[in-house]
Amino acid sequence: MGDFGSSPIAPYCAPMAVLIDVTEHPESWVNGLRENLPGFEIVVGPYNGPSDEIEYVVAWDVNIDRLRTYPNLKGLLLTMAGYDRIEVKALAPIPVVRLVDPAMADDIAQYVLSWVIHFSRGFDIFASAQSDRTWVSEPPIRFPSDVTVGVLGAGAIGKVVLATCEYHGFNTIGWSRSSHDRSMTSFFEASDFVVNLVPLSPATESLVGANELERLGNGIIINVGRGRTVDQTALIEALKGDLRWAVLDVFEVEPLPHDSELWELPNVTITPHDAGRTNPLTAAAVVATSIREIESGRRPANTIET
Ligand code: GLV
Repeated sequence: MGDFGSSPIAPYCAPMAVLIDVTEHPESWVNGLRENLPGFEIVVGPYNGPSDEIEYVVAWDVNIDRLRTYPNLKGLLLTMAGYDRIEVKALAPIPVVRLVDPAMADDIAQYVLSWVIHFSRGFDIFASAQSDRTWVSEPPIRFPSDVTVGVLGAGAIGKVVLATCEYHGFNTIGWSRSSHDRSMTSFFEASDFVVNLVPLSPATESLVGANELERLGNGIIINVGRGRTVDQTALIEALKGDLRWAVLDVFEVEPLPHDSELWELPNVTITPHDAGRTNPLTAAAVVATSIREIESGRRPANTIET
């Protein structure tokens, strides 16, 4: 007969959990996280279980007060690249990691490339001629090597946009506040297209104003960063003047209010903040890598500075 009394009984240890707190299709994250994080419980919000079991939260719209109720929280993993809606400092020292998924960067690059091709091939001109049954007998000829795409905010995603445009034969220039070879106005002047990918912060609010837009001349601005980094009044003025077109995926206020003048301008394309879509199938692996980094005592790449 065994001596049960002498064998130590391991205390019950609840599996630590990763909480998926997203409103859209949370279930689509579950398999990817389970596959990449064996040993973790993966739970989907709204969560009503014991608060001390939550070690990681995967989310975008975060309620900081709710996060503070998780005493063992080790990290917040954002499901988006932008972090302007998060009070990162309020969570310190817990790392907040933004999502930089190569698949999302490709998604944004494809969006940008589509519009660069659309306008540089003159498809807008053909569409407008077609509505008048007009055959454009001498279409403007601009090969990719005649066109310069400038990327404002040449970080992880910007670099993919630059490489994608370059691969298709376009000239490219990157410009970041921390690294540039010319002034911002000269950058606008040298570009036919300016792709805005600047993250929003107090330092970048209305970074692009009348002066820069004037230097872009008859060019095109594609805003896939944040609406508030471009002065909207100056943009509307420029669109009524020389600026050929604005392709806008982001706005000062989203959804774009019904009474916004932008809806009416003939040289504006509006898309509903859809340029860089988060695909849980690829993003779950990126999020899991960040969690493993934190578990090993390392600071994940793309941790937001506080
Ligand atoms: C989208 O806007 C993002 O920040 O990922």
